[in-house]
Amino acid sequence: MTVTLLKALHIAALLLWTAGLLSLPLMLARHEEGEHQFRYARIRKFTHYSYTRLITPAAVIAIAAGVPLIFLRELFVPWLFAKLALVALLVTVHAYVGHIVLKMGEEAGERQPPPAWPMVAALCLLIPAILLLVLLKPPLDTQLVPELLQQPLGRQLPLDEVPN
Ligand code: HEM
Repeated sequence: MTVTLLKALHIAALLLWTAGLLSLPLMLARHEEGEHQFRYARIRKFTHYSYTRLITPAAVIAIAAGVPLIFLRELFVPWLFAKLALVALLVTVHAYVGHIVLKMGEEAGERQPPPAWPMVAALCLLIPAILLLVLLKPPLDTQLVPELLQQPLGRQLPLDEVPN
């Protein structure tokens, strides 16, 4: 029951997250050079509020629901690690989109948004790749993972190297 609820929350949140991430670069690209203050404010408010009040909270909820699922389902398997690596790239795109939203607000009138297509193309590759990994659960070779990451090494933390 807990797993089903968490999965439902995970999927609902990631739908909002990915749909929002895809729409923001397109919305930002609607800024025009020398545009009227009214039009600028409308796009600016829409992109700012969707990023801060919808897309980022959805990302946090998707991740917060996904992490306990790993432990509940005991999924310590290569396809999941591959999925997490791709999710890290998705988070990087998320941060970059946030950076553009911020810059468009701070440098009103002086800055043009970058073209939307590289971000949209990256998302159109990343999202289906993540979905394929999680839905097909391919039996990836554990040899792809470096030896260092495959077992606990039982080493002390280098506490004496931590600066005071
Ligand atoms: C840090 C982020 C994430 C974590 C820790 C995470 C973890 C998980 C885990 C452990 C499951 C359960 C898998 C199973 O029961 O077989 C799951 C399910 C799922 N995840 Fe994620 N996930 C994350 C992000 C994403 C993203 C970004 C997407 C899509 C773009 C995604 C798509 C899915 C889907 C569709 C399922 C349902 C799969 C099924 O039940 O067969 N996840 N996730």
